[in-house]
Amino acid sequence: MLGMPLPLPTAPRAVIVLLAAAMAVGAFGLTGCGEREDWSPIDGPWDPDHPEARAILEPPAATDPIDDEMADAGERWYRTRGCLACHRVDGTDVVGPALNGITTRRSYEWYRAMVMSPDSMIRVDPIAQQLTEIYRVPMPDQGVDELRTRAIWEYLRRVDARPGPRGS
Ligand code: HEC
Repeated sequence: MLGMPLPLPTAPRAVIVLLAAAMAVGAFGLTGCGEREDWSPIDGPWDPDHPEARAILEPPAATDPIDDEMADAGERWYRTRGCLACHRVDGTDVVGPALNGITTRRSYEWYRAMVMSPDSMIRVDPIAQQLTEIYRVPMPDQGVDELRTRAIWEYLRRVDARPGPRGS
């Protein structure tokens, strides 16, 4: 049994490093092995082929409860994807229209098209064209993917479900 153990302190560490590497690869969806029962892609990896992916991207019914985890992620993305630079949710227009009320004013499908491809909406959609006439700036494409677009909608649903005092 000579040479069996590597020096003990390093062996477990090597295993941990290997495990971490395997998890990182898995996290980027390269392996696709195993089932992730607690799949929570909001801040983790997004796998569009995951069996639950379609359900997450479904437009929610007005009566669906707010998914707070998704809304929190949506709020972060709303801030980091530049939306906040042009849109407020307190009823004031800045560069673009205030977005509170959007979840009753527009359908989810319309909103999604506007966020994911504002250029083509401004080209073909009469409402988008009308808005551009009013605001005089074409909304830029922020490169937001479908999951983030959906999560920002959840944030906006929460804004509309729990309206605070206007002007705050
Ligand atoms: C540079 C400013 C700018 C940024 C950044 C921006 N928008 Fe806009 N957005 C606008 C303007 C201006 C309009 C009005 C339509 C137009 O002029 O093209 C608009 C319109 C919209 C509308 C339609 C509003 C309505 O009343 O129907 C939605 C929804 C929207 N933006 C969401 C977003 C989201 C979500 C983000 C971030 C991912 C974002 N916007 C980033 C400027 C911006």
